[in-house]
Amino acid sequence: MGLPPEPRRSALMQTLRWSFRPLAFMQECRERYGDSFSVRFVGFERPMVMISDPAAIKALYTERDIGLPPGRNLILEPILGPKSLLILEGAEHLSRRRLMLPPFHGERMRSYEPALGEIVGAEIDSWPLQREFPIHSRMQAITLEAILRVVFGVSEGPRLERLRGMLTQLLSETSSLRAQLVALATRRFGGRGPWERFEAQLREVDELLYAEIAEHRTRPDLEERTDILSLLMVARFEDGEAMGDSELRDHLMTLLLAGHETTATALAWTFDLLLRHPAALARLRESLAAGEDDYLRATITESLRLRPVVPLAGRRLHRELVADGLRLPPGTDVTPAIWLTHTRADLYPEPFSFRPERFLEEGPETYGWIPFGGGMRRCLGASFAEFEMRIVLREVLTRCQLRKASPAAERTSRRNITLSPRDGTPVVVEARHQARESAAVTA
Ligand code: HEM
Repeated sequence: MGLPPEPRRSALMQTLRWSFRPLAFMQECRERYGDSFSVRFVGFERPMVMISDPAAIKALYTERDIGLPPGRNLILEPILGPKSLLILEGAEHLSRRRLMLPPFHGERMRSYEPALGEIVGAEIDSWPLQREFPIHSRMQAITLEAILRVVFGVSEGPRLERLRGMLTQLLSETSSLRAQLVALATRRFGGRGPWERFEAQLREVDELLYAEIAEHRTRPDLEERTDILSLLMVARFEDGEAMGDSELRDHLMTLLLAGHETTATALAWTFDLLLRHPAALARLRESLAAGEDDYLRATITESLRLRPVVPLAGRRLHRELVADGLRLPPGTDVTPAIWLTHTRADLYPEPFSFRPERFLEEGPETYGWIPFGGGMRRCLGASFAEFEMRIVLREVLTRCQLRKASPAAERTSRRNITLSPRDGTPVVVEARHQARESAAVTA
């Protein structure tokens, strides 16, 4: 049996469709070929098989003998470093993942609530009244601050200011695919091109990160601290070894890159959906006022279903995969098409409607709801991201009367590895209440 069928367009056309109209392209492929098909991307030697049936996804994500599809390290390694969890494979990946999981455990989240609440409160206070602004960039400011303070454990002061400034610049300059390609293309020509500018910025960020790591090492309360950098510093591999400074630096960069834009984008989509669905918004406000969080959780689950931020989370097969009428040979690159899985009518009646109620009685099926990928590489920060989203939504919705600046639904555009709201979700704050003691969000 060969690979599933592929569109009768050139690799260039497929790549362009994927880059500029990803959802329409996937929908077309589903209508024409069904649950699985193969897509060719320019620059990749092999096609990528896309699957959307939960049984096939389960088979893929529970298979242990798998690697990563090519391409990730080309763009990511220069910034993330060789010990990044997003790049390592096999035993090296597993040993680090084991060490990094406990700080991200759901229970831990509760200790981060005061800092997160403070960050969101200060951000809300800075918003203009009765004037349109894109909420996506404000969500980016919140998620960056959350990573700097809760994950990196940087205290108020000049280093926090410089890191915030440098990282905002670095992240915005590396966010578009075009900027990355230009930088890579000019890499070999020396001089003062985008690549050199990027390397100089990265060196400066690294200096700040190493200074933070060095300062953490001198802290007498390191063992008691709850920021994730401190927890990683006191953790030990099975052979009793601790992580060295350059490895810690790679993990900080990875957590920043994996956790900042993704969470901000998920929040922006949630606002876009909620503000266009007044009944759901009213129900959410009511339940928050009653101190409940079931509807809040269901809203987040539904938003991540309808607008999954990361569209693909693929693997390279090391051995044959047989599932759901497919027989894929070793060496095949295969990924769930996350949005197609999330919009299957057999799993979700009225799949394109925003209906948080669908998740009130029961959570989603494991392999039918995969915004965080799955298996041995499932998102390490999933609990953290959902917890942060609950706090941000609760604070914003209890303190602000918001409306969308325009009634139209946001279009999707690709930004880095994410599918992002094209116009940044412009909103208007019509009224703002003073901060008050909010009910705790359960971790
Ligand atoms: C809504 C927000 C987020 C979304 C949608 C998201 C999504 C994803 C996806 C799809 C993957 C790949 C999973 C796979 O290949 O199976 C991933 C991996 C990862 N994410 Fe997230 N993520 C989010 C937030 C975060 C946060 C807040 C952090 C940490 C602060 C984080 C850290 C990571 C790490 C370290 C990995 C690599 C895991 C590994 O390879 O073992 N993510 N994420």
